[in-house]
Amino acid sequence: MISKRSCTMSTTSAANPFASQGLFITFEGLDGSGKSTQARVLADRLRKEGYAIYETVEPGGTPIGQQIRRILLDPANQELGAIPELLLMFASRAQNVEQAILPALEEGKIVIADRFTDSTIAYQGSGRGLGWEVVLELERIACQGIRPNLTLCIDVDTETALNRARARNNTNRQEARIDEQAAEFHQKVREGYLELARREPERFRLIDGSGNEQSTAVKVWDVVQAVLRDASPARSVSSSPSSNR
Ligand code: TYD
Repeated sequence: MISKRSCTMSTTSAANPFASQGLFITFEGLDGSGKSTQARVLADRLRKEGYAIYETVEPGGTPIGQQIRRILLDPANQELGAIPELLLMFASRAQNVEQAILPALEEGKIVIADRFTDSTIAYQGSGRGLGWEVVLELERIACQGIRPNLTLCIDVDTETALNRARARNNTNRQEARIDEQAAEFHQKVREGYLELARREPERFRLIDGSGNEQSTAVKVWDVVQAVLRDASPARSVSSSPSSNR
């Protein structure tokens, strides 16, 4: 079992073998899928259960990452090319890994990230058509071997996701540059996610997000509970070869 807050410091306890390794859970999904809400709900629930949690978001996650996020998502930056976009995603991620995620995992925390490298695979690799290889190459440089133990992809069809995202963007126009891509782009992103689920069914779980917030949260919790029962350290998962992607 992963450590609860009361015992995160007892790194040598036999009953608590992962206290110094942490557990890395990421949320993925299309814009408007509801993944950010589900990430928050899960974090709150795990905190109530006594786990030590670190929440983060990408792009962003650190003060430097937030500055990079503004460049990436500002609809005024229409001329931003696909390669600079890709590199900025990883610049934000590299800072987040080094400054926040690795230290939190080393403290034995459960890290919950709203997006991580799978977003780059789906959005830049599949959506922008840059391919997965270049993304995995940058992952090797930026992520210091850190890979999620578990990824929960909140899956909804593109029409539902776009309608939800549009309703929200009416109130938050500053962050809509990528959301505003054509429906065809979002379809490719979804196909990228579905391909990840086919390639890594153990780690990358599709959660049906077509119902309401509560019914999706129940599905998320069922998966997380099962994983917590036999949690493995983030680092041992991260050392698995990337070639199966
Ligand atoms: P996010 O903050 O999750 O926005 P939303 O709440 O709308 O889902 O992500 C911002 C945007 O950045 C989103 O359109 C997806 C995109 N993105 C990428 O294209 N590549 C990436 O690697 C990441 C992390 C995000």
